[in-house]
Amino acid sequence: MSRPKVFVSRLISEVALSKVRAVCDVEIWTEPLPPPRDVFLRKIEGKDGLLTLVTESPIDGTVMDAAGPQLKVISNFAVGCNNINIQDATSRGICVGNTPGVLTEATADMAFGLLISSARCILNGADDVRNGRWKTWEPLRYIGQDLIGKTIGIVGMGRIGYAVARRCRGGWNMEVLYSDIVSSEYAEKELGARRVDFDTLLGASDFVSVHADLNAQTKGMFNLATFKKMKNTAVFVNAARGPIHVTADLVTALKEGIIFAAGLDVTDPEPPRYGDASDATNELMKLPNAVIVPHIASASVNSRNGMADIAADNLIAGLTDEPLRCWVNPEVASRRRR
Ligand code: GLV
Repeated sequence: MSRPKVFVSRLISEVALSKVRAVCDVEIWTEPLPPPRDVFLRKIEGKDGLLTLVTESPIDGTVMDAAGPQLKVISNFAVGCNNINIQDATSRGICVGNTPGVLTEATADMAFGLLISSARCILNGADDVRNGRWKTWEPLRYIGQDLIGKTIGIVGMGRIGYAVARRCRGGWNMEVLYSDIVSSEYAEKELGARRVDFDTLLGASDFVSVHADLNAQTKGMFNLATFKKMKNTAVFVNAARGPIHVTADLVTALKEGIIFAAGLDVTDPEPPRYGDASDATNELMKLPNAVIVPHIASASVNSRNGMADIAADNLIAGLTDEPLRCWVNPEVASRRRR
């Protein structure tokens, strides 16, 4: 029997790649930037499996059909799968895998890091030092928000939301509010978290950290109207997906003091269209009260190795008709392509 053919859209850890190489004929895109769309479409043609990143977007029915009827599995190197049309995959009998769990703590660390650096003017201050603008110790400058005993509002109390709340509760004795479509008995029991409606959360929280999937309900949920419901001392953190906030509205909220600061691991668009006036991220990046890092929340040794390992296992399972280790669409099981 011939070996399955797979396309891996970027270099990942060698240990994981060798697992895949042991079973498949592998073509890897080794450039640092993602394959251009036309190249991606050419590369996936005739492949039985794909290992993709969030930068490969969208992967919808058209893309799946371009790959061909032999395509059995798409293994996404991410927990969020907003780049893949899951319905299109399921209706075609294609398995989709993701990499949850292993990045929870690293992502929560980053969200908390963004929270504290934007609340305490760390980036702004460090920039001044680096650029020779720090002249003296000033009693009234770089005044940030206190963290102890404040209220954290978690939007999306899943694994990562819980891990952020646990840091805030355990380390900083914060009250924990959350909004979600389902309740988390665990967070309520362990952290005394209270589930409230979104508006209550916005009005009562000193810090609002979003850990929700990007979908039709969450797209643009942080907009000018939302920011206006927050305290003017509030800090907004997004380590989920950029389109959950409206960039131009966030610029207004930060410039006009509607909220105090924002810490972002993600942007919309991502990456920013540098120098293009139609992309408000250019303005956002210049604001002293916006801390932006390049979507690196899961970028720790254990987390990225763990993601690579799961993504490799998912890919192989999808090709060998086994259940995927982390299966986004297990409902496809009875009619998966074989
Ligand atoms: C990264 O953003 C992920 O979803 O894993």
